[in-house]
Order: sequence, then structure tokens, then C-alpha cells
Amino acid sequence: MTSRLVVLVSGTGTNLQALIDACADPAYGAEVVAVGADRHGIEALSRADRAGIATFVKRVVDFSTREHWDRAMADSVAGFEPDLIVLAGFMKLVSDDFLARFEDRVVNTHPALSPSFPGMNGPADALAYGAKVTGATLFIVDGGVDTGPIVAQVAVPVVDGEDVETLHERIKAGERTMLVDTVGRMAREGWHVDGRLVRIG
Ligand code: GRF
Repeated sequence: MTSRLVVLVSGTGTNLQALIDACADPAYGAEVVAVGADRHGIEALSRADRAGIATFVKRVVDFSTREHWDRAMADSVAGFEPDLIVLAGFMKLVSDDFLARFEDRVVNTHPALSPSFPGMNGPADALAYGAKVTGATLFIVDGGVDTGPIVAQVAVPVVDGEDVETLHERIKAGERTMLVDTVGRMAREGWHVDGRLVRIG
């Protein structure tokens, strides 16, 4: 059976595109059934449109409270009956209520090697710290910031003298491959979360 993916985005959507491209092969085992965003006018939504994938946008400013926004987002996601929700460059935290509705089925990709450098500036923080190796982490989202159980990681060496843009681009290249490989395995083989340990298959 093909797994149903809902992907949430806020930006360029290169990770989304990698998933869309992978899903073109029926053997991949997954299908992007919808793309949701917290803002209009982003390239990620155009990528979904071009692929003929349903989209929805919920902006925090259009709701009276953050809780109402969060519930509306969760309702829209639930309407597509996803097996897995992929946060791919989604720049909002979702609530515990959101996560409870989709227990162990929300994953996020973060451009650093957890538990190092959580938060919005993973590549810049790794560079400023002088790390020689950084990378990307796919994890099951929990109530913290980039703290959830780790599903997969990819290491990327830091090149002497490079700037944050080139480092982030090189991280993203590894991140896309890791994301596509791992989501495909999760779709085809299933997964189990036991405390901090995630087992695929
Ligand atoms: C990725 O590096 C993701 O980990 C980070 O933002 C970037 C999103 O890139 N949170 P894209 O929108 O998928 O191109």
C-alpha cells in the first residue's frame, strides 16, 4: 500500500521537490497527498502546484490565537489522512495537541547533527562554533526544539573558510538524500518508536 505524506513547508521547498520526484516511482511506496504552508507566495507552494498536488495555507495572523491556528493546521492535515507528516523547512513549532493527534507520525528535518545546534540557525551556529563536521538530522517531532528521537543523520564536513550559505547548501544536498531514503524506508517498512530509539522495519 502506498503511504500518504503531507508535507509542511515555509520556503524554497527543495526537500519537498526531492520527495515529489522520488514519489514518481511507484516502487518508492509513498505519495505526497498535500502540501501545507504557513505563508503564501513561496516557491514550495509553486512546486506543489506544478506537480498537481493539493495545497493549503494557514497564516498565524489570520487566527485570533496561536492555538486556533494550530488546530486549523492540524484539521487541514488530518483531512488528508496522512500516514506520515513531513516538516520540510517548516518554520513554525506545532503544539502538543497537534502532535498528540498524529502520534509518532510527524518528522522534521534539521540542518545540524542533533543534539548539537538546535534552533533556527543550525549551519551558522556550527560554523561559529568551529565545528569540523556538521550535517542534518531527521527526527520524530516532540514538544521541544529539534529534540525528538532521531530517525536518521547525515554528516557533512565543514570546509575551511566557507560561508554559511555554501555550508547550508552542502548540508541541504546531503539532507535531501537522507530525507528521501529514510522516508521511503519508513513508508515501505513501517517504524517503531521506543523512548529515544527509532527502528525502521
Ligand atoms: C532545510 O535545510 C531545513 O532543514 C531547514 O530549512 C531548509 C529548508 O530548505 N529547516 P528547503 O525549503 O527544503 O529548500
